[in-house]
Amino acid sequence: MKISALRVSKRLDEVHFSDIVQVRNKVMALRAAGEAVHGFHGGEPFFPTPLPVKYGIIQALIENKTRYAPSSGMEPLREAIAHKLRTFNGMKVTADQVLLTVGGSHALYAAFQCVLDPGDDVLLFSPYWTPIRELITGAQGRPLLVPTVSAISHGITASLERYSTPQTRAIYYNTPQNPNGIVFTRQHAEEVAAFARKRDLVVIADEAYEDIVYEGEHFSIATLPGMRERTLTTYTLSKSFSMTGLRVGYVVAEEPWMSGLRKIILYSTNGVSTPTQWGALEAMRMPRELLLGRREEYRQRRDVLVQALNEAGLECTPPAGAFYVFPKCGRIHKNSRKAAEILLDRARIATVPGVAFGAQGEGHLRFSYSLSMQMIEAGIDALKKFQA
Ligand SMILES: Cc1ncc(COP(=O)(O)O)c(C=O)c1O
Repeated sequence: MKISALRVSKRLDEVHFSDIVQVRNKVMALRAAGEAVHGFHGGEPFFPTPLPVKYGIIQALIENKTRYAPSSGMEPLREAIAHKLRTFNGMKVTADQVLLTVGGSHALYAAFQCVLDPGDDVLLFSPYWTPIRELITGAQGRPLLVPTVSAISHGITASLERYSTPQTRAIYYNTPQNPNGIVFTRQHAEEVAAFARKRDLVVIADEAYEDIVYEGEHFSIATLPGMRERTLTTYTLSKSFSMTGLRVGYVVAEEPWMSGLRKIILYSTNGVSTPTQWGALEAMRMPRELLLGRREEYRQRRDVLVQALNEAGLECTPPAGAFYVFPKCGRIHKNSRKAAEILLDRARIATVPGVAFGAQGEGHLRFSYSLSMQMIEAGIDALKKFQA
């Protein structure tokens, strides 16, 4: 029988939608039906987009700055980002090594497409941010899951050795981590870097939450000796500047990656919207002390939620970074999908089942504490009533 042409490419067979989308849809349906839901499932900053960013966009529109910008990003913005990378991240980079992308997701898409050939394997600390698996399989690569907690306690190098294969080409290295808020230290980075150099691997570093670190300091793996040439580092303005809907991110790398990344960006989006880039420039010009103030607000929210979860028997330690906490859910149900369902159905508390972040996330739920204090407290009350 002739196979119909009306089918999507086989490449997409291994690419799936995530549970997060399903949770979001269910919450939207409940709210549309007039139900109040305590939304701990999201991944967006709680504060509004800063005014200078909004004015930057409006000003650009009024001045008719609405035409094509270079697909790699406009010069002043790439310069401002390179300055931030030199002063904050300690990377010796120039504006030529920075490319603007449509959010961090697009930077990661471009990085995996640029590095992977079909059949390549990628080491991935797990639990991981769900889209990463699909970005790897979409580039016809294979994810190799390295359990993060046991790697940290039993040795990162030994764990990477254990899970790598002769086809391993790259390591995805996310710090601070989504979903568990783990922050890799400089020593962890040194181990990963040594392994990458020894095995001649490429590192795709995801530093989306670089500005939200409570314990220790954010450290960029690309600054270690011999790592600049083998690391593609991705960033986003989504989290630091509450610009999730504006879609701006960037990737920093050297050749040969830059030529590959430029092609992917040109033929996927042809760049970030021009007015948005003017808004992003205002974000890059904002004093970094503002980010520190926000971090303290996140810390307060983290402490309130962590204490309440522990009191409710959902065991967790305070995460060192990002704005998620990843407690054990055995007290409700050991299956995280069931536990999330019970919490949503009976207490109208929306969370993400840990298994959505890989097998190593099973037995946990992800709560975001990037909410107003009032919303967190209302959620905590609902949790107490649910248990009573
Ligand atoms: C670990 C991680 N990396 C990258 C991103 C990309 O964010 P965006 O595409 O909004 O810039 C996210 C967003 O949730 C994330 O959690």
